Amino acid sequence: MLDHGQAPPLTQRPANPLLRRKPVERLVSEAGQGEGGALKRSLTMWQLTMISIGATLGTGIFVVLGEATPIAGPAVWIAFIVAGLTALFSALSYAELAGSIPVSGSSYSYAYATMGELVAWVCGWCLVLEYGVSVAAVAVGWGQYLNELLDGLVGITIPQGFSAPLGEGGYINLPALVVVLLCMVFLLRGAKESARINSIMVAVKIVTLVLFCVIGFMGIKAGNYTPLAPLGVTAISTAASMLFFSYIGFDAASTAGEEAKNPKKDLPRAIMLSLLIVTGLYCLVALVAVGAMPWQEFEGTEAALAQIMENVTGHAFWSIVLAAGAVVAIASVVFAVLYGQTRILFAMSRDGLVPKAFAKVDEKTGTPRINTIIVCLFCAVLAAFIPLGELANATSIGTLFAFALVNAAVVILRYTRPEMNRTFKVALFPVTPILGFAFCAYLMWELPWITWAYFGGWMVAGLVIYFFYGMRRSSLGLSALATAEEPTDK
Ligand code: ALA
Repeated sequence: MLDHGQAPPLTQRPANPLLRRKPVERLVSEAGQGEGGALKRSLTMWQLTMISIGATLGTGIFVVLGEATPIAGPAVWIAFIVAGLTALFSALSYAELAGSIPVSGSSYSYAYATMGELVAWVCGWCLVLEYGVSVAAVAVGWGQYLNELLDGLVGITIPQGFSAPLGEGGYINLPALVVVLLCMVFLLRGAKESARINSIMVAVKIVTLVLFCVIGFMGIKAGNYTPLAPLGVTAISTAASMLFFSYIGFDAASTAGEEAKNPKKDLPRAIMLSLLIVTGLYCLVALVAVGAMPWQEFEGTEAALAQIMENVTGHAFWSIVLAAGAVVAIASVVFAVLYGQTRILFAMSRDGLVPKAFAKVDEKTGTPRINTIIVCLFCAVLAAFIPLGELANATSIGTLFAFALVNAAVVILRYTRPEMNRTFKVALFPVTPILGFAFCAYLMWELPWITWAYFGGWMVAGLVIYFFYGMRRSSLGLSALATAEEPTDK
């Protein structure tokens, strides 16, 4: 048997390596298996739901709501519903595939089973943008919140030199470095422990937002809701595309397929439940926020939710509570997204497309230890020293690309494998996944050219890596060589 670490000469390769698909049965039978050990199945449906909520609920509600309100007016809660509907179509597709192919690679593995190795690699490379690069950007934002909290609590802030990277007026972003390293320490303790810590952080952020709703409710003035859409319907759709960011992350549970106790049943439920909870919270918070503060006043107000707490109660204490909640909320996004990134690379490594080290499992904790250390150190350096600028903006295009592929994968799999056991099926097939695909394509189209340019650069880098590394070391390709037959999924 050939080891996927060795690359045979290109001349021995089977025909069409770019199109080789990994059979669903093989994906499922390999689940959990890493180099030298297996992942532990310990996560319950609630813990999976918390992983998705952990990765989703963060900057979007604490920051982007304040930026979207001057655009949409009091109708900002409708913009949240529109953005949530867009996410819903893709979430349904995720739920169907997570229930039928319960592995850790998420959309990367779904694409491998349906569209072939090259598309799968492109998808996996997009996921590195969605998870790996975005986590660095979120960690950078976390530093700003920490500064706000420190300012409120003790009246001091971390100096610019130590809270921004070179090129942005500093030397190192220390808070970003610290939050990623802290997450690494907890992630190394194992999936069960990680899920427990994640659930605590998620509980804190939900309680913070509920507290905001209760206090904010007392400050609501009916007049603030009218006129509902002073800037027109188009403004609501502009705000909705902005707010789509706040739904990114609902797919995180699908990266935990190999550590779930009952993945076929629990993954679809967790994905749908997390989206439902998050959408409900977003709409409620938005409704209370625009009811308690006239929409025009959101313009230029940095921490709008904290400001509302202070306005309603007349005490700065409550805005400090909110800032503390935001610090925990954003840290939990960093935590859950880092977790997802390690599991996606685990699946890609098992397939031979990235080095084997990413699939090594620590016997004691049952986690991909080396993988976790590499991913966290990489993200920590990225967050601490590199001004991410436009590359961070390119994360949404990468996410939308991966979502679009998942919608396409649902349609392909229904036609190529109609007999497969599906624990969850999207309603109104094929309308729903087609709409999901169309919405993603539309939102990508709306993004500025500079974002596309960075995305193009990222893709070229990914393709170079694939052609010089992954294609030659693919375990699927090597095992096909060994048995001298090309495996295809039907
Ligand atoms: N949805 C995540 C957030 O809002 C990315 O922070």
